Amino acid sequence: TKRVFSGIQPSGGLTLGNYLGAMKRFVDMQNEGSFETVYCMVDLHAITTVLNDPAALRHNTRELCAGFIASGIDPEKSILFNQSQVPEHAQLAWIFNCVARMGWMGRMTQWKDKAGENAEGASLGLFAYPALMAADILIYHATHVPVGEDQKQHLELTRDIAAKFNHDFGVDFFPITEPVIEGAATRVMNLRDGTKKMSKSDPSDMTRINLTDTADQIAKKIKKAKTDPDPLPETLDGLGARPEARNLVNIWAALTEETPAAVVEANAGKLFGYFKQDLAEIAVDKLAPISTEMGRLMEDTAEIDRILARGAERARELSEPILKQTYEIVGMVR
Ligand code: TYM
Repeated sequence: TKRVFSGIQPSGGLTLGNYLGAMKRFVDMQNEGSFETVYCMVDLHAITTVLNDPAALRHNTRELCAGFIASGIDPEKSILFNQSQVPEHAQLAWIFNCVARMGWMGRMTQWKDKAGENAEGASLGLFAYPALMAADILIYHATHVPVGEDQKQHLELTRDIAAKFNHDFGVDFFPITEPVIEGAATRVMNLRDGTKKMSKSDPSDMTRINLTDTADQIAKKIKKAKTDPDPLPETLDGLGARPEARNLVNIWAALTEETPAAVVEANAGKLFGYFKQDLAEIAVDKLAPISTEMGRLMEDTAEIDRILARGAERARELSEPILKQTYEIVGMVR
């Protein structure tokens, strides 16, 4: 079987980057019909950076679950659950901590970015984070992992861990996973600076669209997005070194499921002032209903908790036997 796994951190709200780069693709793969789809809120990952805010973690985890459902994930069709409710993730991660090499982890660009100058003060969990991510994927023997561009290196590490484990034990046990980094919006950029990634951690809220934004906020942020004074070119190539312009074209294309080339051609010669007005309308149309539905779902957190509990039960049916076999391969007396 072809099995999809992916995860999102419950660390603050969802952005348009998460939605277009990940969530929308998750929904497509769920509905495509040829995959078994497993989607996870990765709370164990979220605590690698912020550990001491239990109320926020609870809220963010439930809100993320609401975001999955409001975006079109059906908890019957997909397995939808919270990472810490399936202990096999952490258990396999420990074994992978012993497979991965310090040098591999030290080369992760996200680690270097996040730890920055202060690696001594970063948590050990932040350093080990990609090994937990490999465990998330491989505890299901997942074959396909849809993510945004920024996770590419972590998926290469996942392949390295699987290959080393298989090689060291002389088995063909863990699959070599395919990253699925596709579509027009694999890297949605900051609305104020087209050279930076759109991120939930940027101090300015005007740099991003949140999935919880109201229609007015969405429209305002797009209309105020940075652009250059030139009109849209005749063809995609004409976007050349215009990162902000390119980003808005990509967002349009991802929202309407067209190619960026088609978007440019349909809007050739238009000034960005007008392009942004149209884009704002498209974005409000697609995103405001999600925001409204998330709000509605959040009124019944007991129901969300039931959905997560049921999802975890289903996930464990898959993860338990794989952990058991892993322990056998490693030689752990059970
Ligand atoms: P996270 O929570 O940072 O982001 C969730 C997903 O959103 C994508 N994404 C973006 N895509 C396009 N443009 C952007 N600006 C943008 N920002 C974020 C991310 O690429 C990701 O797909 N380590 C992961 C979570 C994780 C995971 C996993 C993913 C844990 N275990 C196993 C896949 C498989 C992360 O921090 O994503």
